[in-house]
Amino acid sequence: MLCPTGPTFDRGVEKLKNHWLRFGFYLVFAIVMWSSLAKDGGVLAIGAATITVAAACYLIAAIKKQASMSISTFGAMSSSALVKPFAAALALAAVVAATPSQHAFVAPHDAHANPQPVSEAPATRVASPALVNSNKWTKIETMEALPNYQLRIKEPKLCDTNTTQYSGYLDTDEDRHFFFWFFEARNVKRDDAPIILWMNGGPGCSSFTGLLMELGPCRVDKGGKTASPHKYGWNDKAHVIFLDQPLNVGYSYGKDVFNSMEAGKDVYNFLQLFYHSFPEYAKSELHVFGESYGGHYVPATAKAIHEANIEHSTKIASGILANGEGEKRVLPLTSIGIGNGLTDPLIQYKYYSQMACNSTYSPVLKKEECDAMDSSYPTCARLINACYKWKNALACYPAEMYCNQMLMTYQRSGANPYDVRIPCEGGNLCYPIMADIDAYLNTPEVQQELGSDVTKFESCSQKVYTGFTLSGDWMKPYVYEIPPLLEAGIRVLVYAGDADFICNWYGNKAWSEALEWSGAEGFSSERDHEWTLGGKAVGEARSFKNFSFVRVFGAGHMAPYDQPVSSLDMINRWIADKSFY
Ligand SMILES: *[C@@H]1O[C@H](CO)[C@@H](O)[C@H](O)[C@H]1NC(C)=O
Ligand SMILES: *[C@@H]1O[C@H](CO)[C@@H](O)[C@H](O)[C@H]1NC(C)=O
Ligand SMILES: *[C@@H]1O[C@H](CO)[C@@H](O)[C@H](O)[C@H]1NC(C)=O
Repeated sequence: MLCPTGPTFDRGVEKLKNHWLRFGFYLVFAIVMWSSLAKDGGVLAIGAATITVAAACYLIAAIKKQASMSISTFGAMSSSALVKPFAAALALAAVVAATPSQHAFVAPHDAHANPQPVSEAPATRVASPALVNSNKWTKIETMEALPNYQLRIKEPKLCDTNTTQYSGYLDTDEDRHFFFWFFEARNVKRDDAPIILWMNGGPGCSSFTGLLMELGPCRVDKGGKTASPHKYGWNDKAHVIFLDQPLNVGYSYGKDVFNSMEAGKDVYNFLQLFYHSFPEYAKSELHVFGESYGGHYVPATAKAIHEANIEHSTKIASGILANGEGEKRVLPLTSIGIGNGLTDPLIQYKYYSQMACNSTYSPVLKKEECDAMDSSYPTCARLINACYKWKNALACYPAEMYCNQMLMTYQRSGANPYDVRIPCEGGNLCYPIMADIDAYLNTPEVQQELGSDVTKFESCSQKVYTGFTLSGDWMKPYVYEIPPLLEAGIRVLVYAGDADFICNWYGNKAWSEALEWSGAEGFSSERDHEWTLGGKAVGEARSFKNFSFVRVFGAGHMAPYDQPVSSLDMINRWIADKSFY
């Protein structure tokens, strides 16, 4: 129902001979259809979306019409007259979308939280250049092979003070500044521990949500004044890096990047400098993990690393490059992990009705509401298929808008989209602890200790969320990046808390089974095994060769938050390459 259509409408359009007028006709309808989405401060972002949709509808109608015309009249129609309004509209939409500080949606922890207005962020979140260049840093590292990058490093002492910590920024000469916070492994020798890189989703949410709420060595205390050591931190047997990416998320800042692939390249360069700056971890295997929209970031990042590794080792093998100091290295990418991720929307969008009405928990919606979702799915799937084929904003954006509308009934029900067992409480992000995290990371003492250049921390950035939405990144098939990793012997873990709605385990399991790789048949015919801990079943797992799917019992979207003990067992088994059953 994205484009207005129907005999009366079509006849109306046909009366307009001028292409600009025709485009205007679609624009008026788009404005009527979409204006209800524009709330305080969201006018421009929705405006850009509206113009894009109108342009798409105009073009679709024009192409349909051409297709139905005879060859002779086809030739008579000037294609430049046809394309001009379209191109102009897209340019206008791009300008509108690029206009800063417009917030259409709350950037939720994952996609689909309530589109409620939020207060505007102040014009600038970043402290003055004087502060940026202050001598608060322990060291500033550079490397020859990356002349345009530097790593500013500090040694903060917060909450888990017995653990070695580093924090700081990766800076690029293109005004990009990525913030990271690193914790050394607690209970194994430094040399024996691998590195886990952790990225939260959104798009637009800080990875410090993961740190202070889920798997970090620290857990924020009620009220957000302090944080305390968390016993089940994943740095039990691994070093963990929490990275705020893409730009303008958390303490990171600079020019915007609204595309998971671009973001992946920045992460690759960050890792190069990190390994270079800390030779004590040079032998640490690398595991790239993420949650939610991390189902996009993780494959994109792993692709960037893997392809650069291949290029780099080819150059070394052929003697073009020396394998020495100052050079880039082959990053020891060992595995990737995706927790309650959005990776293959085409398959995953099919399972919302099952999770809402027929899961292992009580139904959240009425049967009719789920039937309505099911009847929308074929159209949604057609749109996503177009996105998978063309992989551009024009093809992908309509899919995103249409398919996410399907989920509005769930939003309206008041249930927590991240956990079908509980209501959404404590504001847009549905967990009161999120406000504590905001409070903690907005404390001047904490910002100073960590070396943040950013003075206003937001758990989730609406601007980044909107940017990704408008760029069409949402529905793109990042799942395509996974088979090459598996074929190259990089292990892949897909795990999901089984009470999550938004990136539910049904959808994740379904795409895992449908994944096309050399082990697909083996994986499909493998059965699910009980995963037990201390004699108790804590989940189900299925592995074949280097691919595993794990269902975590009794956990929502943030599995380590709900089930810290079994989640830690899961990660420890995984990094040690031990079976789940
Ligand atoms: C740090 O280690 C000491 C000695 O093992 C212990 O007594 C203390 O509780 C630890 N502190 C934290 C914050 O874990
Ligand atoms: C509910 O789920 C079960 C198990 O997945 C399935 O066998 C059954 O057909 C489903 N029922 C409906 C009404 O979809
Ligand atoms: C994982 O992949 C590597 C490389 O293809 C292979 O040597 C290894 O046997 C695989 N592991 C398993 C458990 O199949």
